[in-house]
Amino acid sequence: MRLLVTGGAGFIGANFVHSTVAEHPEDTVTVLDSLTYAGSAEALAPLGDAATLVVGDITDAPLVDELVAGADAVVHFAAETHVDNSLADPSAFVTSNLVGTFTVLEAVRRRGVRLHHVSTDEVYGDLPLEDPTVRFTADTPYNPSSPYAATKAGSDLLVRAWVRSYGVAATLSNCSNNFGPYQHVEKFIPRQITNLLTGRRAKLYGTGANVRDWIHVADHNTAVRAILAGGRVGQTYLIGADCQRSNLDVLRTLLGIMGRDPDDFDHVSDRAGHDLRYAIDPTALRDELGWAPVHTDFAAALAATVHWYRDNEAWWAPLKDAVEAGYAKRGQ
Ligand code: NAD
Ligand code: DAU
Repeated sequence: MRLLVTGGAGFIGANFVHSTVAEHPEDTVTVLDSLTYAGSAEALAPLGDAATLVVGDITDAPLVDELVAGADAVVHFAAETHVDNSLADPSAFVTSNLVGTFTVLEAVRRRGVRLHHVSTDEVYGDLPLEDPTVRFTADTPYNPSSPYAATKAGSDLLVRAWVRSYGVAATLSNCSNNFGPYQHVEKFIPRQITNLLTGRRAKLYGTGANVRDWIHVADHNTAVRAILAGGRVGQTYLIGADCQRSNLDVLRTLLGIMGRDPDDFDHVSDRAGHDLRYAIDPTALRDELGWAPVHTDFAAALAATVHWYRDNEAWWAPLKDAVEAGYAKRGQ
């Protein structure tokens, strides 16, 4: 298969490209990525010429059309992804997530190419903390809270409309919180790991009672691959690994792994409109496509992630000071 991977120099996309090259040598991989602050050519460098990086924007219609014309399938990861950034300035989110997805859709429509659209559980809004058995399903109404979530919700709706009205052969997936190698240091887990590795203190928003449903990035990507291979056109698949944890719990697990006292962190200003809880019911995906996560020991997967950041300081160190300066300005 000739795959076009948008956002393939970002966290999940780069992991997808690595696993595709390793496990599907029969595929050819072209990455389209504009290398925003979140994109990293270095993340793809270990692959040499096993994947081709085209530096360009998903809103550039002629470029997208040309690349889509040479592909059998598009896996669309490219997006602005950080909630705090969307609260500070939503404009890039509207452009990349909405106009960018529209541009990709028009190209796959013209060229008759298969699309998989990668989205997030944040489109569903949040759940109350009290009852962890209540989880998102594909029937949960959209109710996004942040500008990020709203633009992802809008992009999902564009995909659904292009399937219905134009017969575009697209599938969608909405996944929970990922962690693992190559995640930008602005995000919760890598921020805390690299804070501790650089002599800073860990930072917890509010009380830390908010719950996220964690999945290792490799498991997210095996699900994406399974949907690409066997998913039904027009279908939305929810991806999750049954791993709800409060932020405080995650932080304390991390502090333990890194040999610190469980109270060795700072409480900082909470996020505006902070979603309380996300939780995915992945039963439909498991039953229909036989997918299952393999990184199910959360503490072990977290410890492996800590090792990766220890071993790959050259990758993240150049990003760290600027990210922390931005957080400091916002009191976080
Ligand atoms: P990321 O921020 O690490 O990477 C995004 C990539 O997209 C970067 O390489 C960036 O340069 C590129 N990009 C952004 N705007 C672009 C544009 N206009 N043109 C071309 N490239 C552009 O994000 P991530 O965490 O890897 O997320 C990838 C996708 O998965 C996103 O669509 C996100 O909504 C979704 N998702 C993420 C998570 C998570 O926990 N990280 C969970 C569920 C879904
Ligand atoms: O649920 C999927 C989503 O997960 C993806 O769609 C997003 O792209 C991805 O960024 C992530 O969104 P979150 O907002 O849940 O992730 P983030 O890593 O920013 O924060 C996770 C939780 O940790 C959240 O409740 C806020 C909190 N937090 C975050 C940071 C950066 C802290 O307590 N301290 C921090 O320093």
